[in-house]
Amino acid sequence: MGGERQAVCRLEELADPGSKEFELDTPEGTEYGFVVQRDGEIRAYVNSCPHTGAALNWAPDRFLTKAGDLIMCGVHGAIFRIEDGHCLQGPCEGRDLQAMPVEVEDGQVFVKSPD
Ligand code: FES
Repeated sequence: MGGERQAVCRLEELADPGSKEFELDTPEGTEYGFVVQRDGEIRAYVNSCPHTGAALNWAPDRFLTKAGDLIMCGVHGAIFRIEDGHCLQGPCEGRDLQAMPVEVEDGQVFVKSPD
């Protein structure tokens, strides 16, 4: 069951392309995730690489390749499509990041924990 949506950042804090980490409070504890924007589209994923479960970002709030067109794991370099979190290349090729429902309202980005 998904929890209540929680505000994670203001839309203007998120570059395009860009990404930002957040933490959600859930009944099971803190859920670590990130939002990513590209071409005005926003997605949110759990910050856990399907390869080892490690955090994906290579620096604070940095989840994207230099070109800003793909998500890249900073640990072993797996790359993922921004639009659906599908791994295109790397040790977890063919697997997917876990998406979280994301909404934007009045310039505020909201995320719900995944089911
Ligand atoms: S932990 Fe992400 S590619 Fe190995």
